[in-house]
Amino acid sequence: MCLRQIFLTIFISTLFKTCHCIDTRVDPLVDTNVGLIRGMKAEDGGYAMFLGIPYGKVDKNNPFGPSLPQENFEEIFEAYDDSAICPQIEEFNETITGTLDCLHLNIYVPDVASTKSPVPVLVWIYGGAFQTGFGGRFLYGPKYFVRHDIILVTVNYRVGPYGFMCLNDSKVPGNQGFKDQLLALRWIKDNIDSFGGNSNKITLFGESAGGVAIDYHLFSKQEKLFNNLIIQSGTSLLPSLIGEPEAARTLNLASILGFETINLNEALSFLGKQSTNSVIDAMRQVPRYLPCVENDFNNVEKFISDYPLNLDIPKAKDVPILIGHTDDERLLLHVNKNPEYYEHLNIFHEKLFNAFNFNSSQLADAVKNFRHFYIGDEEITEQEKFSIIDFDSDFTYVHPTQRSIKQYMENNAGDIYYYMFSYNGGRNFVKKRHNVTIGGAAHADEIGYLFDISYMKDEPSHEDQLIIDRMTTLWANFVKYSNPTPQISDLLPVDWKPVENNLLHYLEIDSELTLKKRPFNKRMAFWDLFYRHNYKLQKGYRNRDKW
Ligand SMILES: *[C@@H]1O[C@H](CO)[C@@H](O)[C@H](O)[C@H]1NC(C)=O
Ligand SMILES: *[C@@H]1O[C@H](CO)[C@@H](O)[C@H](O)[C@H]1NC(C)=O
Ligand SMILES: *[C@@H]1O[C@H](CO)[C@@H](O)[C@H](O)[C@H]1NC(C)=O
Ligand SMILES: *[C@@H]1O[C@H](CO)[C@@H](O)[C@H](O)[C@H]1NC(C)=O
Repeated sequence: MCLRQIFLTIFISTLFKTCHCIDTRVDPLVDTNVGLIRGMKAEDGGYAMFLGIPYGKVDKNNPFGPSLPQENFEEIFEAYDDSAICPQIEEFNETITGTLDCLHLNIYVPDVASTKSPVPVLVWIYGGAFQTGFGGRFLYGPKYFVRHDIILVTVNYRVGPYGFMCLNDSKVPGNQGFKDQLLALRWIKDNIDSFGGNSNKITLFGESAGGVAIDYHLFSKQEKLFNNLIIQSGTSLLPSLIGEPEAARTLNLASILGFETINLNEALSFLGKQSTNSVIDAMRQVPRYLPCVENDFNNVEKFISDYPLNLDIPKAKDVPILIGHTDDERLLLHVNKNPEYYEHLNIFHEKLFNAFNFNSSQLADAVKNFRHFYIGDEEITEQEKFSIIDFDSDFTYVHPTQRSIKQYMENNAGDIYYYMFSYNGGRNFVKKRHNVTIGGAAHADEIGYLFDISYMKDEPSHEDQLIIDRMTTLWANFVKYSNPTPQISDLLPVDWKPVENNLLHYLEIDSELTLKKRPFNKRMAFWDLFYRHNYKLQKGYRNRDKW
């Protein structure tokens, strides 16, 4: 631990005349701008843990609205508990759980870190479709990252109605969950130095909705609280993941819980008094709340000002970005289904209808083209399932990722490192949980090779450990040097080249690491043409010349 921490620990021991115990374990104590925080030594490596530090608090009078900064600690804060979870139907046991005392973050500090020689910082924003997720070690254990002499921080933020209700009302302007993250990032910027972190070397990383969140932090007009970004399987250009302020959903939510009104303020005040469990339960009957384009209000901090396809990204200038996806993102959605599932699948129509402002003949024409391209003249049956998975993966993740890369380049981002994760091993996070063995790597599968997952109790196999070592070294190199392969080594025998104009290098992460060019080039060329042709018909597109 850093000298300042050791000094404080000794100082306080002296003050309280504690014994010179035989137990040499000394809990680390850190003096931060918000007060003293005590953590604990980890038992599985040379690092300390500071768990469940509150960085913000939900406003009791307006629990759906923006959170408030946490007051300074008057006594030593004992950071021993990472179990806080914001209200949600938690994804592992599918139980309704969580409380609004959940805006906590966890900090993992390798022993080499000190205020004299601070180490870079990596901040994790979890995914979960903006409806679920939590930062604790149940899923996001730090062991594999802290070995690389970087600090890892994991951040809780609100999800579902408490995180993303969006109204034309200054009390609930929208994107509260993102604003929670913003508060956490400000806290980290202000306080991480005291833990031995370098506040001028902060990388944000996130997967799925977490990747989307990180992209929005790049777009937002708020101050820049990071240096590098890692965006895994999710960007702001994912289709149908952004909405606009809307009252009906919230009035409906109140009505389900027994309160009929057309007055939004009454509905909000009623909902604010209901237990979080009953609100989350009622959400099963209401469409989910998502990020939104916020209206303007005086003195209200804004996070998303327009659909991202309309926006310039001045903050992207010179920011190094590591970004990618898996090779079979939508595998789990369309595999292991019964024959009726495919019979009723109207996927081409549904996806294009939701994402574009087509009239009926344009929509029919587009549907026809996509059918021809992906399945020819076949009916949608189980035989076509891998083609359907390709279509859905391309539409939902792969092409949006490539459009985001293009957008970053147009906005003069720093080096962009593109990857595709296609490894199939014993720790593929999602496939493992669902006992799926066929196909490539599914959405979120790479998480098992970045984090020490509490319920994966067996030691990783030799092959899986190699993937863990490679991925966490690549990620940590990027955090430290803004370059995942600053030199060739036995572990990383490859020079991962950034993308260039018309040269889309990517690193395939499989049992071997291989530098390749332009993944799924034929499929993507089809999508490129389609988007170029229909650019202005995308939902949310605004002809900026008119404004
Ligand atoms: C799910 O339930 C198991 C068994 O009761 C428990 O150990 C685990 O912590 C629960 N997981 C979550 C995320 O609540
Ligand atoms: C939002 O509310 C204000 C004030 O009630 C109203 O003037 C405005 O038209 C509303 N905007 C939208 C987009 O509904
Ligand atoms: C749909 O839009 C196209 C292009 O604007 C137009 O030519 C066509 O007549 C429209 N079709 C219908 C059914 O509205
Ligand atoms: C996966 O397989 C294991 C062991 O065969 C079984 O216990 C578990 O219930 C299965 N899980 C699912 C989601 O089918």
